[in-house]
Parts: sequence; C-alpha cells; structure tokens
Amino acid sequence: MIREPFGTTPEGTAVERFTLASASGVTINVLSYGGVIQSVFAPDRAGTLADVTLGYDSLDGYLRDKSYLGALVGRYANRIRAGRFSLDGRGYTLATNAGGNHLHGGNRGFNKAVWTTEPFADGENIGLRLDHVSPDGDEGYPGKVTARVTYTLTPDGEIVIDFLATADAPTPVNLTQHSYFNLAGTGVGDILGHTLEIAASRFTPVDAQLIPTGELRPVQGTPFDFTTPERVGARINDDDEQLRLAGGYDHNFVVDHNALSELVLAARLTDPLSGRGLDVHTTEPGMQCYSGNFLDGTVAGKGGVPLTYRSGLALETQHFPNSPNEPAFPSTILRPGAEHRSRTVYHFVVRPA
Ligand code: BGC
Repeated sequence: MIREPFGTTPEGTAVERFTLASASGVTINVLSYGGVIQSVFAPDRAGTLADVTLGYDSLDGYLRDKSYLGALVGRYANRIRAGRFSLDGRGYTLATNAGGNHLHGGNRGFNKAVWTTEPFADGENIGLRLDHVSPDGDEGYPGKVTARVTYTLTPDGEIVIDFLATADAPTPVNLTQHSYFNLAGTGVGDILGHTLEIAASRFTPVDAQLIPTGELRPVQGTPFDFTTPERVGARINDDDEQLRLAGGYDHNFVVDHNALSELVLAARLTDPLSGRGLDVHTTEPGMQCYSGNFLDGTVAGKGGVPLTYRSGLALETQHFPNSPNEPAFPSTILRPGAEHRSRTVYHFVVRPA
C-alpha cells in the first residue's frame, strides 16, 4: 500500500491518497477527501490495464467537482423534494442545491469532507477504513451521524464497500458510492456501446424534477428493461417520456431481492471490445443508473480530457430517492441505538469474447 500526500484543502486540512493493489491486477486509488475512488485500473482480455473510472488528477478538480465523481455520498443519496420532510411530527428543512431540491447531502455533503483514514491488511485482503462525523444540524439534518466506510480490495479484483452509520437522534441516512465507469478506459468515448444487465423488474419513474412519483413501474416493454443484457445506447434516445424527462437514464431501479438485505447481483456491465466487465452486488433495495447526461465537456477530467456527454455510467446502490416523503418506500430513518449497515461489491472481471 502506498500512502502519499494529495494536497491541502482551502481550510488547511491535508489530504492523502492511498494506492491498493491486488493479485488480479486490479489497482485502486482512494482519497481521504470525500472517500473518493480516484481510479480503478482493471485488465482487459490481453491483460492490459486501463483506468476505468472518471475523475481528476489533482485535489483541485475534486474541490471544484459538481458531478460527485468517485465520491462517497451522504447523508442522503439523491434527491429529497424541496429539501423538506417531517419526522416524528416535526418538520425539517435541508439545504437545497438542485433546482430547489436537496441532492446528495446538500452543499457540503460527505463528498466534501476529509475523512479520517486507517489502512489495514486482513489475510490476503487489503483495505482502508474511512470515518466521518456529521454534526447535529449538518445541512439541516437532525442529530449527529457517525459514519464508517470500509473499502476492501480482494485478490480476486473485488472492491467490497461496507457502510456503517449510527445517529444520536432520528435522521434519514442513505449512503452510496458515486463512481462513474467507462470500461473502455476513462477518456475513451462514451458508454453507449457497453452492455448492461440490471436485476430489476421494476423502476421508480420520475417527475420533471427527477424525483420519483411514488410508483413502482414494471420495466417490461420499456427502454428500462435490462433484465437481459442490452447496449446502454440501444434505446436511450427513444421517444419515451421517462427518458425525455431525465435526458437519458437517471433513474432508480428496484433491485429484485429474495429478501431485503441479502447481497444480490444488481448489475453487470461489459465493454464488449476490451472484455472488461463489472459485476455489482448489493444489499441495497435500489440502484440509480445514471448515464452521465449532465456531463457536457466543460470540465476537464484526468489528463485534461473533457468530461463529455455520457462518457461514464454511474451505478449507485442506494435506498430510493425522496424516501423520507414516501411512506411506502423502504424506510431510510436511522434511530439512536440502531445501526445502518449496507454492503456493495464492485467485482472487476474479464469476460470471454
Ligand atoms: C443523479 C443525477 C445527478 C448526478 C450528479 C446522480 O446520482 O441522479 O441527477 O446529476 O448524480 O450529481
């Protein structure tokens, strides 16, 4: 494991970068800033490594970032309508940072925090524990939340991500990892030719503000049916109301679980040309599939290459957006004495031609 300085925040906090390598060839870089996965180097069929995640070369990029590239997201992944909800009979108002709604924890979410880090080795696994305390009132949320995220890299090329949180007052908590993948390699075109399979027979359609309407809609017969592998781009420009509202895929899929909290396959992504594949397993009930529709080439990523339209695909395992206002959705309320625990595994594999 390599541990090195990665600059200093404007507040004067030192940021570190960690390099973790595995026998599979998969090597990752993790930052203490935002718990960002800065890069994942993964082999193709010929064993050639490419960096398959979108990101920036320097801390400055992450300080300016508005796309959550590679970051840990909290307290609440995705949108909460008008930044408002009520809990135990009391109303709360959160910071609004996306068209009058609350997105990804607000103006200074967990992605903008410098996390405390502790590298570890556990048999053949190596990893990094990251801790962050979100104070009472943070971005409008009630209670103090203590969060721990553990990244474990296995010899087989898996990144196991464990989320743990406790709170000293009832509060919504919904944590995710916001990596954007391009299995051809970052900076190499768009992700429209990747094939995608999503283990979801339903999704949560959205309104014009990209917030779920509350409906769980069958994917069958729609461009949201990825129950069998399909190219991301095959139907993305179809004349479909949901695709129009979001400008592509930017929707929460209801992962088909046998029982809630089991680790199940949520998605399989493949770059057919290189053979690089990614399997995503999760204990979460949902996964936001976001096709990078808001990336517009105005910001430069790694190597100075513009982050262009649909150049990365995010597969964000999560509870459903806006759950604090949707009593029928699985609850995201964390209460004192309870633990929020969830696991997501990104497994980088090589698929045959
Ligand atoms: C959201 C998008 C948002 C993106 C970057 C995704 O999780 O669903 O609407 O633009 O994150 O913030």
